[in-house]
Amino acid sequence: MAEDLINNKDIYFPSYLGTNDKLITLLNRASQTLCEWFSKADKNGPLPFDESFKCIMPAEDGNSEEDLFSEIESLLKNSFNPVHPGSLAHLDPPPLIFSILGDLIAAGLNNNLLAYELSPSVTLLEESLCKWFSKKLGFNDFSGGIAASGGTLSNLNALIAARNNAGLGTNPNSVLLVSEDAHSSFVKCIRIMGLDSTNLVRIKTDNQGRMDLDYLRKSLDKCSIENKKIFAIVATLGTTVRGAIDPIKEISEICKQRKIWLHIDGSIGGIFAITSIPIEGLNNINKANSITINPQKIIGITKTSSLLLVSNMSTLENTFNTGLPYISSKENILNRGEIGIQGSRPAEVIKLWLGLRFLGLNGIENILKSSIKRKDFFIKNISKNKFDIYSGPLHIVSFLPKKLELKDSDAWTQTKVNELINNNFMLSRPKFKGKYFLRVVMGNYNTKESHIEELLRLLNA
Ligand SMILES: Cc1ncc(COP(=O)(O)O)c(C=O)c1O
Repeated sequence: MAEDLINNKDIYFPSYLGTNDKLITLLNRASQTLCEWFSKADKNGPLPFDESFKCIMPAEDGNSEEDLFSEIESLLKNSFNPVHPGSLAHLDPPPLIFSILGDLIAAGLNNNLLAYELSPSVTLLEESLCKWFSKKLGFNDFSGGIAASGGTLSNLNALIAARNNAGLGTNPNSVLLVSEDAHSSFVKCIRIMGLDSTNLVRIKTDNQGRMDLDYLRKSLDKCSIENKKIFAIVATLGTTVRGAIDPIKEISEICKQRKIWLHIDGSIGGIFAITSIPIEGLNNINKANSITINPQKIIGITKTSSLLLVSNMSTLENTFNTGLPYISSKENILNRGEIGIQGSRPAEVIKLWLGLRFLGLNGIENILKSSIKRKDFFIKNISKNKFDIYSGPLHIVSFLPKKLELKDSDAWTQTKVNELINNNFMLSRPKFKGKYFLRVVMGNYNTKESHIEELLRLLNA
């Protein structure tokens, strides 16, 4: 038992008096431990899990500082390391250093985004940052948004608002249209919304992975013949497996003609729209009713960091406002717990704000451009005779050996993933259109051309 700590009155919580020396010592030690873990990444590899980590549960008496630090070290040693240059499997880049600081400050503040009175400065910060993003994307003065813990929840906030806005809140005939390459979380959204899987209408994609407009029009007509009520169409701005972008301009025109809510799932590509990087479709995103952006996925804002931006804030208010009878309100300030699904919520906006302030628009652009550059370098140098390549304008590439039989893709990708991890490269193997692929996500700023050359040497061998 940690006698020295137990006898110290300030042990459990920060002291409101004095200097908090103990806390400062612990924070310094934790920073040291974390930074050592970062700098040992090269030696340990991206995924060093060796099953030595023991999940030890709380005992009768509290454990000592030494015990806890040794467990923290074991936990780190057995964790996925996004800082390693070979971490190229998923949309989980290294953490921005000012975002790490933001997480620390948010944890210490322990404010609650449920209500203004529990987070006065942070409520204003989230509101202002959502407005700033909305304006950057081309929305007007009525726009704004709400943060949520991840892209799935931001999309769900949007879909519930869309359905409510269409007056279809309890209608079992209400349907959602997404492309067949849209993220799997839309299946979850439909279930959560109390709808059947047939209420999720999947539109075929073309050979570039973009929603096929002819199929979209046919599906819309079919829905109207079958008396199905469409509450939204989702255009994906960056599909998960190949980074494709649906034809946003055309879809937005269809939505306008037919008075259908357009939601853009920009979990992967949305952030590109605040830069001058020329990517087709981005300059039309202000035609949408709502857009999800997920800065955790590419610029290194620490998880979770996701925003739903809407062209008209009243749609969120009308959908989610129930009144908070136990909370005081302030005129002209919305309690953030009344404009989205989540109630109590941490001050995640701090790490987004600090990360963005630290980078500036040039820094953001630099990170995004560098990811595209790495993708281009990879595609330029991978053997085109050997592999079929599936990619788009963003930083994701899926590939598979030419003429590989459907039945062999499972074994081939599994063998390859194992072989690569033994050489300190972590790639993913998404299942896509019935086949397994290898996927590389070039969002890791620490990955240099020399690493990509080494990866290609292993793949081309
Ligand atoms: C296109 C797309 N949308 C939504 C999501 C879900 O985001 P999250 O995992 O943050 O909930 C993902 C996750 O990768 C995604 O790729």
